[in-house]
Amino acid sequence: MDMIRVQGGRSLSGRIGVSGAKNAALPLMATSLLSREALDLANVPRLADISSMAELLRQHGVDIQQSGDGSERVMRMSCRDLASTTAPYDLVRKMRASVLVLGPLLARAGEARVSLPGGCAIGNRPVDLHLSAMEDLGAEIDITGGFIEAKASRGLRGGKIAFAQVSVGATENALMAAALAQGESVILNAAREPEIVDLANCLIAMGAKIEGAGTDTLRVQGVSALHAARHTVIPDRIETGTYAMAAAITGGAIELVGARESHLTAANVILRKAGVTVDETPDGLLVKAVNGLHGTDAMTEPFPGFPTDLQAQFMALMTVADGAAMLTETIFENRFMHVPELARMGANITVHGSSALVRGVRQLRGAPVMATDLRASVSLVLAGLAAKGETEVRRIYHLDRGYERLEEKLAGCGALIERVPQ
Ligand code: UD1
Repeated sequence: MDMIRVQGGRSLSGRIGVSGAKNAALPLMATSLLSREALDLANVPRLADISSMAELLRQHGVDIQQSGDGSERVMRMSCRDLASTTAPYDLVRKMRASVLVLGPLLARAGEARVSLPGGCAIGNRPVDLHLSAMEDLGAEIDITGGFIEAKASRGLRGGKIAFAQVSVGATENALMAAALAQGESVILNAAREPEIVDLANCLIAMGAKIEGAGTDTLRVQGVSALHAARHTVIPDRIETGTYAMAAAITGGAIELVGARESHLTAANVILRKAGVTVDETPDGLLVKAVNGLHGTDAMTEPFPGFPTDLQAQFMALMTVADGAAMLTETIFENRFMHVPELARMGANITVHGSSALVRGVRQLRGAPVMATDLRASVSLVLAGLAAKGETEVRRIYHLDRGYERLEEKLAGCGALIERVPQ
């Protein structure tokens, strides 16, 4: 398996183009199941998770063609007829976001059989909220043989969905299903992430009637069919935040081209408190850290709060800050898997339940490390950029799930980083 080798200690400077958002692109791809007509998606990142979703959709009957290059690249997805309403275990197990086909399949065909995703490195991650939302729209749900079996023989009908807890994926499934349900649906305690707004905008371009995207209440008037549309995926706010921290941890300056301040407000507030300068430019955001870093507390929350997907990266940053930082994870249990690996590089971190106390050290030291999930892996790359000596990050298939051309983008700003085939 390939690994990433980093020689630390260089300050990074330059420009990095932000790719399309993985977490926006995945549900957008699933909307192709809702229509007989073509959906053209621009700015889809080239990532392993995107290929996994494409593979899943192809077996459901979606024809997927890529055309053009660079910023002109378009993914055309057409599903004239569904070939299968079953999402098999082998494909779902690779990527939890596969459960996003549940809502669209039910809405289009009145039935869906989707394998339960199973365990995952960052916690239990149940799907109960997805299932209760489908029931609120009139589906009958059974769990048999490890599969969710959902049926709505007379089609889905509009309903009131009141989520007990904010869930990005369940809100997306509910929105896609409600778009084709008969009558009005109201989704309460909806997630407000920019990826939800992007999904709503794409569905609206396809002819859906949706109000309230970006607030906690979504109103959907079901329509009988959706039509062809073209949509551009929003820039990846987690990739943006990750490279912002690469600039910060190396005392460098990186302009993040295409980044949007409004998608990262909470993270930017915390970065600024930590001594990092974040300024809007005509092209995106310029991130600089020239006067050192201060220990700063952060707590993960649903949007617009500080994202759980940046917690590991921010922890890497805090390992070399002046003073201490308390990082509290409220979204996922078991999301501190990077802590023992950062400790191998000399970090001083104590975990108590869902909080980690990080006491800054003067210098990290390079080491061979290995991570168990996507954001944990990239936090080790960030630590490696700041460390003295060489760091080897193993199991980088996690990185390939979510970061497009990571080593090329960092090397372009002066990092000594390479992929070593094994
Ligand atoms: C999405 C993102 C992921 C991000 C997460 C939180 C994608 C593809 N992934 O994941 O990168 O870390 O949002 O911002 O967009 N929960 C339940 N029951 C459910 C569903 C969720 O209890 O049916 C819980 C989860 O275990 C978790 C919390 O709700 O504790 C939030 O999870 P959710 O927002 O659903 O995350 P995902 O959509 O899976």
